[in-house]
Amino acid sequence: MRTALAALSLASLLIPPASAHFSLTDEYVGRDFLQSWNWESIDDPTHGRVNYLSQADALNGNLTYATDKKFIMRADANNIVAPTSRGRDSVRISSQRAYDEAVVVLDLSHMPEGCGTWPAFWSLSQRGPWPHGGEIDIIEGVNQDKQNLASLHTTPGCTMLPPRAMTGTATSTNCDASVNFNQGCGASFAKPASYGSDFNSAGGGYYVLARSKTDGVRVYFWSRYDPAVPPEIRNGPAAGVLGTQSMYPTAFWGEPEATFALDDGCDYSSHFDAHSFVFDLTFCGDWAGSDYPNTGCPGTCDDFVMNNPQAFANAYWEINSLRIYTPQQ
Ligand SMILES: *[C@@H]1O[C@H](CO)[C@@H](O)[C@H](O)[C@H]1NC(C)=O
Repeated sequence: MRTALAALSLASLLIPPASAHFSLTDEYVGRDFLQSWNWESIDDPTHGRVNYLSQADALNGNLTYATDKKFIMRADANNIVAPTSRGRDSVRISSQRAYDEAVVVLDLSHMPEGCGTWPAFWSLSQRGPWPHGGEIDIIEGVNQDKQNLASLHTTPGCTMLPPRAMTGTATSTNCDASVNFNQGCGASFAKPASYGSDFNSAGGGYYVLARSKTDGVRVYFWSRYDPAVPPEIRNGPAAGVLGTQSMYPTAFWGEPEATFALDDGCDYSSHFDAHSFVFDLTFCGDWAGSDYPNTGCPGTCDDFVMNNPQAFANAYWEINSLRIYTPQQ
């Protein structure tokens, strides 16, 4: 009887509630990104010293490179930027499909690092205008940051109430983008190697976003060789077979690095809708530029970015896979 009871309680940890069966609906690996994502050659809304390229230009200059298994996006690390240019050549892409409740698993080998850089992996409402429908920043940081910052940016009336079950540290609790200079409500990660050069020298790792009406928004992180990486995340599904694997956070995943409960302090449906995902890499601008003087990086941000191409050799994303699980119908 003892063993049967023990098995039962373990099983109840393993099996999520009926409402929380998420199955693999989209998988982006290697060249999939070329078909299913848009290259946004826009002026950077965050005022960075960046020149976002079209897909054709990015492929021509090898700032976008894809094989069957890998997808790479990078900054130009060869050319000095002319003063009349928008900025350093780089890439910003967004998914054509949008997702509401989802578990999103990113297996990432490398992220852009170094002075002047401001990379982000985030999601954004398709309806807008911003910040209607919300913004969720999953990976974000600037310059030589060591810790990742995950944040929400919303319309008014979204506040994170304590206590929060998470390993990260709240940097602010009001998600309203119209206050605190659009700082949003952020959580700074506690685990080592979550960002920048430390993330890269550890071989990268796994980022997971879980968003649901009942459980709110949670962001998990495991470094590549962390023995605690859940096997379903490390191994993924059988190659190329959609619909075969289900995914939802369990007690075995431990506490998230960032937890945003969407309940009394912040109603889910009035602040969040379906989002498309974005990878970008800008330079200087609203955050990396204003932070730059506090970093020990040389000179001024704009001057450094324009005149030191060799400093951007490690300013690249290298993605192994992005898998998106949505509620089973
Ligand atoms: C393009 O980038 C990839 C990945 O870094 C590299 O392996 C390849 O040699 C590059 N191709 C050219 C023509 O430089």
